[in-house]
Amino acid sequence: MDLFLPDFSSNEIIAPFPDTQGGSKEKPIIRQAECRVLEGDSLTILKTLPADSFHACVTSPPYWGLRDYGIEHQIGAEMQLQDFIANLTAVFEEVRRVLRPDGSLWLNIGDSYTSGNRTWRDGDKKNSARAMSYRPPTPEGLKPKDLIGVPWRLAFALQAAGWYLRSDIIWYKPNCQPESVKDRPTQSHEYLFLLTKSQNYYYDQAAVLEPTQDNKTKRNRRTVWSINTEPYKEAHFAVFPPSLVVPCIQAGSPEGGLVLDPFFGSGTVGETALRLNRSCVGIELNPAYAAIAAKRLAAHRWPTLLS
Ligand SMILES: C[S@@+](CC[C@H](N)C(=O)[O-])C[C@H]1O[C@@H](n2cnc3c(N)ncnc32)[C@H](O)[C@@H]1O
Repeated sequence: MDLFLPDFSSNEIIAPFPDTQGGSKEKPIIRQAECRVLEGDSLTILKTLPADSFHACVTSPPYWGLRDYGIEHQIGAEMQLQDFIANLTAVFEEVRRVLRPDGSLWLNIGDSYTSGNRTWRDGDKKNSARAMSYRPPTPEGLKPKDLIGVPWRLAFALQAAGWYLRSDIIWYKPNCQPESVKDRPTQSHEYLFLLTKSQNYYYDQAAVLEPTQDNKTKRNRRTVWSINTEPYKEAHFAVFPPSLVVPCIQAGSPEGGLVLDPFFGSGTVGETALRLNRSCVGIELNPAYAAIAAKRLAAHRWPTLLS
């Protein structure tokens, strides 16, 4: 099997991993997994990638109005909710184009509340990136204190755009951040949507079976995944834990396959893909974050090759 690995000479900031031959007479030769970080706007860069190329896309776009990444053209800082949904839908239209016909999208997104007419938010002690110099106005039709339902609004927009919406998965976070609210439960989950380009698609069910309750056998994976959040020490923004990414990559791509993350951040998807012997392309707008990802991937080069 010859992997598609496009020539990204212009904005590439990490060298590909060296090729090694892992094949035998029986098995096709699979090139050593490699990862590339492309710095820039995901919509612009995706448009330069060839169609029908990636097995799976695993990604966590910025949440609406939750974090200020402090960079022009960032997604998530739109004043209007519909602009945020439209911008993400446009990015994911390009993702759909570059996915193979049997490809899948694993999309992690959390919800938020209307601002209640506050115009800014202070950072919290643990996470200065939660500070906002602005708060978007309450979207039309909603009231102060309303839960917005961002994940489902996005899921429906993607479904309307042609994606197959195959599953909503609850990422339950046992160690979620406490909230100072007294009139509702503390939010301890986010959504992970499985969307596909076609009705029939690659899904390695066996790779992601889970133990039965008595632990004696295995069963089809369920839709609630209990996974602790894990900070990544170099990144002071929302990273997702490798344990959340592992089943997405295992179910969505074969070994030697090619994975995409158009909102790469600190490169969690890249690092996890390499550990699972998949290649990865990551796109990240913020040069500082792209550098963190490149450093993180470089640090894992030798253990990945030698293990
Ligand atoms: C929630 S973070 C992703 C974190 C990542 N999953 C990780 O584990 O590190 C979203 C990322 O999207 C990036 N981003 C925002 N707008 C973007 C755009 N237009 N193109 C590419 N990346 C963008 C942000 O800079 C941020 O790093």
